[in-house]
Amino acid sequence: MRHEVIEKNGFFMAILIAGLISVGGLVEITPLFFLKSTIPPLEGVRPYTALELEGRDIYLREGCYNCHSQMIRPFRAETERYGPYSLPAESMYDHPYQWGSKRTGPDLARVGGKYPDSWHIQHMEDPRSIVPESVMPRYPWLSRTALDGTNIQTKMRAMVSLGVPYAGADIDGATEAIKGKTELDALIAYLQSLGTAVKRR
Ligand code: HEC
Repeated sequence: MRHEVIEKNGFFMAILIAGLISVGGLVEITPLFFLKSTIPPLEGVRPYTALELEGRDIYLREGCYNCHSQMIRPFRAETERYGPYSLPAESMYDHPYQWGSKRTGPDLARVGGKYPDSWHIQHMEDPRSIVPESVMPRYPWLSRTALDGTNIQTKMRAMVSLGVPYAGADIDGATEAIKGKTELDALIAYLQSLGTAVKRR
């Protein structure tokens, strides 16, 4: 009865359990260090344009994530309402990602292309002019505020350091690309890009 010896010796048993868990853990964890990426590639996923990136920063600044998630879970109730569930690659260039967890308003992961720009312009100006029972705040200043694009190249370089593949030409042309735009232009460009890498089924 060799295992009786182990079972009756708590200390010995603990050592063996720790050894077993370590081996199991290493078998699972070690291969991850040799993978270039744990995210399955997805055709069509691209980094944000300069204007979309600025729009994303406005989304963060205004705290839109306090009411909106960007993560469609793989459940029927979600996919029927919002479209195909979110895939890891879709947020691979989001730093930090905007999955969120609070849904006072609807999920926005696939809002891109759902409405024309004119809808967003009116909705941001006054949500209740479109959805009378909406509790979303008005954001009327966005259309009246010129985009401060002075930091765009620095922001893009910061993204490069996090692994976003912007080319030198993207960064060089960024200031020109967002010239004369308003904060609302940027925010809408961002919203219209969301979830468009995967075509709606
Ligand atoms: C207090 C919570 C709240 C905040 C903050 C908020 N929203 Fe909303 N949002 C809602 C609600 C509720 C709705 C649904 C009713 C409506 O369409 O107005 C909504 C709807 C939307 C829709 C339409 C979604 C769809 O599929 O019909 C968009 C786009 C949107 N919000 C964008 C934004 C953006 C961008 C911001 C930040 C500038 C923001 N929201 C801030 C609550 C919020």
